[in-house]
Amino acid sequence: MVDHEKLLKLKREQDAVILAHYYACPAVQDIADYVGDSFYLSKIAAKIKCHTIVFAGVKFMGECAKILNPQKIVLMPDARADCFMAHMIDNNFIRESRKRYTDLAVVCYVNSTTETKACSDVCVTSANAVTVVSKLPNKNILFIPDKNLGHYVARHLPDKNFIFNDGFCPIHEHIDVQEINRLKKEHPSVKVLVHPECNAAIIKIADYIGSTSGIIKFAAENTDREFIIATEIGIKHRLEQTSPSKKYYFPDTTPKCLNMKLNTLENVLSVLKTGKNAITVPTELAVSARKALTKMLELA
Ligand code: 13P
Ligand code: SF4
Repeated sequence: MVDHEKLLKLKREQDAVILAHYYACPAVQDIADYVGDSFYLSKIAAKIKCHTIVFAGVKFMGECAKILNPQKIVLMPDARADCFMAHMIDNNFIRESRKRYTDLAVVCYVNSTTETKACSDVCVTSANAVTVVSKLPNKNILFIPDKNLGHYVARHLPDKNFIFNDGFCPIHEHIDVQEINRLKKEHPSVKVLVHPECNAAIIKIADYIGSTSGIIKFAAENTDREFIIATEIGIKHRLEQTSPSKKYYFPDTTPKCLNMKLNTLENVLSVLKTGKNAITVPTELAVSARKALTKMLELA
């Protein structure tokens, strides 16, 4: 059992701030200074003043924090926490596409490696992808690595020509539409709130599609009392905190990102004590990746 007082004392002594994604487990969300979606957390990371950031998320999130605020020490509670989707793009595909299309904008979901960001023109998150791409002058858009988010953005911007990559989030891709339809049958007229990383069949039956913070906001502001949720289970904690009297139904096959769940109170305490798992990004790579991230922050 981790002593909360001890952890908070150590955090103050180390001049540290804890950032947690909505998919981190409830105990970690509860001790975090900031909890949010990828976009919110990247904005916080860019302007944070303290000495150390402990990032209870996955590797690309910690790397974004380090790239946007290189003077800070960024610690990952568990160095193994990575995002599967980040590795589903071959950077040669970007180089070949640039040769094939003049006027190409390479738009990179933040769920990507630093190397991929460094080959891209602009980053996006699920919360700002439509806004950012709509502001690009380019007709041809190479959207990487997520095919599902890419198709979602393309539907909003029919005047642009999208080239897709075959990447996906295994957790969202494998949410089964039959399970969602079964929930709809059990709870008729209950709205289905969906993350854009979900597969096409789920997107088709969604009443609302948005980022994790978008889903939380929709559920809080809508007058309905019950919602079917198609995204990772960690979001349930904030949904229940924001609107405790409402009901949230998730698929029986619980969508769970095991990488996010590697963040525990024990390893948050451990990295605060030892300073291990510090993110490092080679300078040249960081400079190129920062351009794509900064452009996102400007356009969003
Ligand atoms: P959000 O930016 O919506 O929080 O999503 C991040 C993520 O990893 C979804 O799988
Ligand atoms: Fe990556 Fe999917 Fe986990 Fe999000 S839920 S961090 S996209 S593997």
